This record gives sequence, structure tokens and C-alpha cells, in this order.
Amino acid sequence: MDDLPELPPRAFAREDEGDDLSFYAPARLVTHIDEGAVAALTGYYRQVVPAGGVVLDLMSSWVSHLPDEVDYAEVIGHGMNEAELAANPRLHRWFVRDLNKDPTLPLEDDSLDAALCCVGVQYLQRPVAVMGEVRRALKSGAPFVVSYSNRCFPTKAVAIWRALDLQGHASLIGHYLERAGLTNVAATMLADGRRGDPLVAVAGRA
Ligand SMILES: C[S@@+](CC[C@H](N)C(=O)[O-])C[C@H]1O[C@@H](n2cnc3c(N)ncnc32)[C@H](O)[C@@H]1O
Repeated sequence: MDDLPELPPRAFAREDEGDDLSFYAPARLVTHIDEGAVAALTGYYRQVVPAGGVVLDLMSSWVSHLPDEVDYAEVIGHGMNEAELAANPRLHRWFVRDLNKDPTLPLEDDSLDAALCCVGVQYLQRPVAVMGEVRRALKSGAPFVVSYSNRCFPTKAVAIWRALDLQGHASLIGHYLERAGLTNVAATMLADGRRGDPLVAVAGRA
């Protein structure tokens, strides 16, 4: 299905192969990671997302976790639920797209200064195709930050994700990013999970 022939054939199968847009139709105005993990992610974004830049928040919802005091030229949201995206105060514009049906992004080449994807990567059935699109839209050298924790909707997560632990997830995402042509790929533990949700960021550069 994806550009990862080395993985087992059912690596991207899911327990629930029902329509994703229907699954995400009810708005979920909840937080998916706890306050400590959000604060750690916001601190990381403060360091790596250029102020004044054009930013893509891929697989977004009603929160983007960007630092409140920093202005960006444009924050473009992508998600699965119009009401969630409309409630997100950071987004200048957004689009809804099931990336498992259509992994392309309606964005110009070399137009983004950073791209973010928080706690969504486990749902992607064509991660290399999607990340290749992100790389195309990023300016040369711009970062793509993919972060994850240990919680998810298990029936919608791909099989390979469910088979791996926290460290394995970092390797898997690193592999996706490298396959998509991103460079300088590295994982950073933002919250170790001892006192709350763990959070790891795996980032690469276009
Ligand atoms: C756990 S939420 C994370 C939302 C947000 N990034 C956050 O930090 O709270 C997972 C998100 O993945 C996205 N998603 C899930 N399945 C998807 C699919 N098939 N195509 C595109 N996006 C999908 C949706 O936007 C959903 O809100």
C-alpha cells in the first residue's frame, strides 16, 4: 500500500476499517495529552518553529500547542472535523482531508517554514506518501516535527504501531521521515512519562 515494501503486508491494516471521516464526525473538543506534555511540546515549538513563519498543523483539532506569545504569518490547519478546526484559535485557514484516502496536500511547493503533526501519525496508512507531500511543501531546511504519546484510538491505529513500544515508535517515525526524503532526523524525549503522559518528538528537515 505504501512505499515500505520491507514491512509485513498487513503493517497498515486496522481493526476498524470503517470510514475515517464518519469516525471523526462528532467534534471532540478534548485534550489528547496532559498539561505537562502540552507545556513540553509548546516549549519545543518555541525553539524550532520560526516566529513570523508559515506553519502547517497537520492532523490538527481545536488546539495547536503553539506558544501564545509568538506570531506566525499564517498557521494552516489540516484535520478531519470542520467544527474542531473552526474552534482552533491559532488557525488562519484549514482544510479537511482523509489522508488515508488521498495523501496529497493542497499546498504550494516550498511554501512552509515548519510543519507539525501531534499525536496523529499512528493513524496514517500511507505515511511516506503524506510525509513526501509535507517535504514538498516545506522550504529547504525547514523542520517537520512529529510528536506522539502512548495513547490512541486503538481500533484506528495501524497494526505496526500497535506492535511497537515507545522507543519502537521513534524508530518507525524516523524511518517514515527518511523514506520521505527528510534529513537530520532525530528523536527528543519531551516528557518521560514518569509523572504524566510521555511525549516524544521526532523531527526531520526538508
Ligand atoms: C488524537 S487527535 C490529535 C489532534 C491534535 N493534533 C492534538 O494535538 O490534539 C488525532 C487527529 O488525527 C487526525 N486524523 C485521524 N485519522 C485521519 C485520517 N484518516 N486522515 C487525516 N487525518 C486523520 C484527525 O485530525 C484527528 O484529530
